[in-house]
Amino acid sequence: MQKTRIIVIGAGGQIGSELTPVLRKEYGENNVIASDIRSDICPAVLEGGPFELMDCMDNQRLIEVIIKHKVTQIYHLVALLSAVGEHKPLMAWNINVGSLLNVLEIARELHLSVFIPSSIGVFGPSTPKKNTPQETIMRPITIYGITKICGEMLGDYYFKKYGVDTRGIRFPGIISNVTKPGGGTTDYAVEIFYDALQKGIYTCYLKEDTYLDMMYMPDAIRAAITLMEANPKTLIHRNAYNVSAMSFCPRDLAEEIKKHIPTFVIEYKPDPVKQAIADSWPDNMDDSMAKKEWHWHATYTLPEMVKDMLSTLKKQLTQEEKLS
Ligand code: SER
Repeated sequence: MQKTRIIVIGAGGQIGSELTPVLRKEYGENNVIASDIRSDICPAVLEGGPFELMDCMDNQRLIEVIIKHKVTQIYHLVALLSAVGEHKPLMAWNINVGSLLNVLEIARELHLSVFIPSSIGVFGPSTPKKNTPQETIMRPITIYGITKICGEMLGDYYFKKYGVDTRGIRFPGIISNVTKPGGGTTDYAVEIFYDALQKGIYTCYLKEDTYLDMMYMPDAIRAAITLMEANPKTLIHRNAYNVSAMSFCPRDLAEEIKKHIPTFVIEYKPDPVKQAIADSWPDNMDDSMAKKEWHWHATYTLPEMVKDMLSTLKKQLTQEEKLS
């Protein structure tokens, strides 16, 4: 059997920074190539195995790197997120769809498998908000959501037409502590921890009762790897699995943080663009198809995630203070 050789494109981003080291542990450090458009990324990714400085919009360079490393599988993690996409819609379209098309074309020519992250962003105001079904109305109001639906459909198209082994997940907001997300609507659920520890106060850009589906990074990583390792015969909804872990609003999250930092204060100053996006997304998704087809289950609940985030970040921030 052919050895699995993986490239993570966008390895320096929020997901890549934590996914790449886990893949390297599982598949061997030399079998997982990290690549990013920047080299000022998390040292564990940069130094923990092969790294290629690469702009995935540059098709020729992408082909060279993939052939050089005998890649068999791609995790394509490059995307402009929802809020920043609203400020730069054309750029979001070009990067999110253009880079994916480059990747899919190479996957078709060289018979590679591809992981394509999708998002709660594919849904819109006319989608049922509670227990959002796997198959339902999808009319997103953001360019990000439009590109993510396009990604799901392109994945289906390349699978059906050319037999490319494409797989994808609709991620909720992801909470993490290695590399901060940038330009997303769900980012408040990461920022709040840094401000709680460093300032004791957080000004939230969403209203206190805005519910959204969220997930802790270890679960998100496990979801991606489990799906990529699943038996292809069981995958009916292969490019668009709803996955869910916890649903909360800023007030719930603040209350949970207060159990550890009683003096913590949250205030609210809603941003109209981000609020409108958040209001158009599900409160929580029905992930029964992921459970049925590849045995998905979440491990972290809200209290467990908060406890782990605070203790991990506290150690990190103390370490950084010592270094500076
Ligand atoms: N976290 C993303 C965003 O907020 C959604 O997938 O844009």
